[in-house]
Amino acid sequence: MIDVNGTVYQDLTKILVTREEIAAKVAELGRIITEQYQGKKPVLICILKGAAVFFADLARAIDLPVTMEFMAISSYGSATKTTGQVKVVKDLDQDILDKDVIIVEDIVDSGVTLNYLKGMLEHRGAASIRIVTLLDKPARRRVRDLKVDYSCFNIPDEFVVGYGLDYDQMYRNLPDIGVLSPKVYERNE
Ligand code: PRP
Repeated sequence: MIDVNGTVYQDLTKILVTREEIAAKVAELGRIITEQYQGKKPVLICILKGAAVFFADLARAIDLPVTMEFMAISSYGSATKTTGQVKVVKDLDQDILDKDVIIVEDIVDSGVTLNYLKGMLEHRGAASIRIVTLLDKPARRRVRDLKVDYSCFNIPDEFVVGYGLDYDQMYRNLPDIGVLSPKVYERNE
């Protein structure tokens, strides 16, 4: 595992959440889900790509016969933020009728993506739907009544990368979550 002296860390101004803090929260969330879903076989849905790292760790902290599904979603450019329209690029492989579904996200920002997704899965007849997210940026929320069932960390409105989160598809492989230096995105503007 790369450490904080690694080359990719040079582009961060600070570390916001360490790998140890993440591991502790993931373990706690795994225990909570294990207790809450006793006797059930929940379907874990990973929302690609940002949630992939969190998803892999969380799934291994849940002591239940879970199944794993992967979904890819894209937004219709900036118009999405106002219309709430998102497009499913890769759909689930299994029918979720009467299933207990847990949506696993890396970050809830405006809430537009999850609001759309939750509505879609409700429409498909899931028995229950819960949302868990690694990060939450409450300051950016636009969908006020979106219920996030479990959020590992509330963070300020800063540009964060690492542990699955990207800038221009990079930095997803950092084991910690950090704030990206403005120098990085200013040089691309
Ligand atoms: C991010 C994140 C959520 C969404 C949250 O995905 O993974 O899906 O944005 O934003 P919202 O609450 O404003 O809808 P992104 O489009 O960056 O794709 P990625 O996961 O592949 O990096």
